[in-house]
Amino acid sequence: MNRINGAKCLLLAITFLSCIPLSAGDHRSVLWRGDSIAVSDAGGGGEHVLVSPSGEFSCGFYKVATNAYTFAVWFTSSADATVAWTANRDAPVNGVGSRAELRKDGSLVLQDYDGRVVWSTNTTGTTADRVNLLDTGNLVVSDAGGDTLWQSFDWPTDTLLAGQPVTRYRQLVSASARGLPYSGYYKFYFDSSNILNLMYDGPEISSNYWPSPFNKWWENNRTAFNSSRLGSFDTRGVFTASDDLQFNASDAGDGRVLRRLTLDYDGNLRLYSLDAGGTWRVTWLAVQRTCYVHGLCGSNGICSYRDNNVPTCSCPVGYVPNDAGDWSKGCRRSQEVRCGGDDVDFVAMPHADFWGFDVNYTAGATFEDCRRLCVSDCNCKAFGYRPGTGRCYPKIALWNGRVSVKPDQTIYLKVSRTVTNKMNNNQSSYFLQFDGHVCSIDERVATVSSSYLHGKSNSINFIYFYCFLAVVFVMEAIFVLFGYIFVFRADSAAATGRVHDVEGYSLVVSHFRRFTYDELSHATRGFRDEIAKGATGSVYKGVLDDGRCVAVKLLGEITQGDEVFRSELSVIGRINHMNLVRIWGFCSEHPHRLLVSEYVENGSLDKALFDGDGDGDVLAWRWRYKIAVGVAKALAYLHHECLEWIVHRDVKPENILLDTDFEPKVTDFGLVKLLARDATATGTHLSRVQGTRGYIAPECWTVGRPVTGKADVYSFGVVLLELLRGQRVCDWAAGDLQQLASWIKERLKRDGDDDDGGEVSAWVEEEVMDTRLRGDFSHVQAVAMLELAVSCVDGEPNRRPSMNAVAQKLISLHEHDRAASLRFA
Ligand SMILES: *[C@@H]1O[C@H](CO)[C@@H](O)[C@H](O)[C@H]1NC(C)=O
Ligand SMILES: *[C@@H]1O[C@H](CO)[C@@H](O)[C@H](O)[C@H]1NC(C)=O
Ligand SMILES: *[C@@H]1O[C@H](CO)[C@@H](O)[C@H](O)[C@H]1NC(C)=O
Ligand SMILES: *[C@@H]1O[C@H](CO)[C@@H](O)[C@H](O)[C@H]1NC(C)=O
Ligand SMILES: *[C@@H]1O[C@H](CO)[C@@H](O)[C@H](O)[C@H]1NC(C)=O
Ligand SMILES: *[C@@H]1O[C@H](CO)[C@@H](O)[C@H](O)[C@H]1NC(C)=O
Repeated sequence: MNRINGAKCLLLAITFLSCIPLSAGDHRSVLWRGDSIAVSDAGGGGEHVLVSPSGEFSCGFYKVATNAYTFAVWFTSSADATVAWTANRDAPVNGVGSRAELRKDGSLVLQDYDGRVVWSTNTTGTTADRVNLLDTGNLVVSDAGGDTLWQSFDWPTDTLLAGQPVTRYRQLVSASARGLPYSGYYKFYFDSSNILNLMYDGPEISSNYWPSPFNKWWENNRTAFNSSRLGSFDTRGVFTASDDLQFNASDAGDGRVLRRLTLDYDGNLRLYSLDAGGTWRVTWLAVQRTCYVHGLCGSNGICSYRDNNVPTCSCPVGYVPNDAGDWSKGCRRSQEVRCGGDDVDFVAMPHADFWGFDVNYTAGATFEDCRRLCVSDCNCKAFGYRPGTGRCYPKIALWNGRVSVKPDQTIYLKVSRTVTNKMNNNQSSYFLQFDGHVCSIDERVATVSSSYLHGKSNSINFIYFYCFLAVVFVMEAIFVLFGYIFVFRADSAAATGRVHDVEGYSLVVSHFRRFTYDELSHATRGFRDEIAKGATGSVYKGVLDDGRCVAVKLLGEITQGDEVFRSELSVIGRINHMNLVRIWGFCSEHPHRLLVSEYVENGSLDKALFDGDGDGDVLAWRWRYKIAVGVAKALAYLHHECLEWIVHRDVKPENILLDTDFEPKVTDFGLVKLLARDATATGTHLSRVQGTRGYIAPECWTVGRPVTGKADVYSFGVVLLELLRGQRVCDWAAGDLQQLASWIKERLKRDGDDDDGGEVSAWVEEEVMDTRLRGDFSHVQAVAMLELAVSCVDGEPNRRPSMNAVAQKLISLHEHDRAASLRFA
């Protein structure tokens, strides 16, 4: 029956695939009324991309993350296909089934796989006839007479191209992180006095930082009198605007160079030129020192230049990051300051400044006066003082922090006395906690938000979509997870962070961080001590500088982009359950991809279960029961509690590690997916079979069947049988597990009818249980686990219990300990 369904499904899938016109077709340059383009294979190309006549620009679906695409225009010849314009930047669509179509009604619309319109040019009812991508990079909807009805130049995202204006109505909005389309907090716009500005417009504050906010507009060489509010650069690289802003690219004059003016995710406005090698050179930038951009490091955070002048965020003494994965979230006090009393102390931060939020400003104050002012005001977070002039400015909020080059400025930060007591005696000058949790601006961990994918998967009737849905659905789970993480990040951020002592500082390090390859190479002494070797890579033991033992896994075969890899890992890194191996961090330095996780003492279950033969070595029953419960809890957590579900897909004894108390810890969750993503993300559903022979559910072998958590239930059933038997099931069942299972089921049923518990346990002990246990096990638990195991390995996924039910059942067996087994014996 299954096989027939599978074959039907496969047939339909093939039919569907062959329905897609795979006709010849070079790149097209026009999309006629009624035509559409869809996501093409990875890498782009074929007829699913519009290309400008010169070939310099392409337009189509641009992959931003696993199965998430935007409709975009990009530079064909830039090495990383830099995006110049995005239609649906905050609402990416699915990879399979999404399309952009110039509808018969005249609108160019972008619809998601379920037909929902995500974006539209709103030209419905017009005589729109075609969509062209011009050599300027402008995507134009025009009518038969050639009149423009809509153009992408009117809807800039974070980039202006030559000839494209910033206007009264149109501003640039930065992306939220490198490589992601989502709107960030920075804006390039005309303010109400007709001046072009850069502004940080964050959730808590907004402030302008360019041109210099200290100056009047005339001091910045601008004019407020021209209200036409228009600015653009031409093909020679000369930018002019109605407020008299004028600047030239350093290579200005050469009209053949491709340029773009981009408001980058770090808040800096840069003009770039594309060189022959496909890389971008900065030929002008607005803010010379990126640390002067406001909002970069969030509240209380400080931007400074570290190695190689890289702008880097860190927290001052007495503060800890709110979210080590996203420094724009800033820092918070590690220890509240009790106001007024003896608890107040100050730490000096020479050369530092936090721009803005001065309570008031007093000149000619003594240091003591200034200090007293801040002590007496509970809202005062710090004060700035310049000894020469006696300038005193208490601050009620700490934003836009930076270590400036000005020598004469010191910020005195209000902290709790417990903080200064922990510092060494030279307290007066040390201020930044660089150890452990600095992060350069361009290392912000990108997190893909996707609330847009919530709750919509039931409106498709086409039967062959069912097959594709399998893949789409798995991907959707990932996105829903991302969505949740995005929404609840603040909570989880509060939950992370552990205090431990380094050089007398009370320092909080994030659980999850990025490591360098050198660091890990050092920790593992050059990857010497290999502790395991699996399909997903070799694992080495290592010791971090702080003394933590870790397992470092060298991942092979990952080809996806760094950004995606990181964001996916940051999801895995946030998963925290007693029975799941904790992921401490990762390293991604081309070509190395490594995963750093907790080191678990006792090795994996397969060694403990299958290897021991002497009396002492046999894994005792109570440990087996404990392992079964722990693994079930971990999988139930992944499936049900952990914000929608993550399917492990490779449950087997090798992936169950045991700590010193035989508490099991499941490892490699999420990895099979990570490694297989290239196969699935291409839009085909014909992905490689994932998992390990002997533990794979039958539906995983069948092309196009949805892989759900029930596949893990199957694998868990196999592991349960192995825990009872002490032998690999594939050896025991001689290849036919279904036959073995139905035999067991029949016997259990027959004995159940006989209603004699003693009988049941007798044959179970003789024919099922591990003889090495010598009868030393709880018969009630064993029989119940056997029943559970056979229901888990049912060939039909829908008949298998859920992981939650399995865990509940196992936990309920807790009372039946050895006492019960004695009663039965
Ligand atoms: C189309 O109209 C909708 C609703 O008025 C609007 O939200 C959207 O921004 C418009 N899109 C374009 C490209 O004009
Ligand atoms: C304004 O122009 C003058 C003269 O060219 C120049 O000296 C000054 O530095 C400019 N000011 C700014 C803020 O760019
Ligand atoms: C205002 O700016 C526009 C665009 O830069 C320019 O064409 C126009 O001449 C300016 N008007 C005045 C009065 O300077
Ligand atoms: C930029 O180039 C134009 C034309 O080449 C020139 O007139 C102008 O003075 C230049 N502006 C600056 C700020 O260098
Ligand atoms: C500054 O503010 C503090 C506290 O609000 C107040 O005591 C002080 O008088 C103010 N100084 C001036 C010069 O306004
Ligand atoms: C304290 O400062 C003195 C002189 O500034 C220096 O010699 C000494 O090494 C410092 N001690 C510590 C623990 O940093």
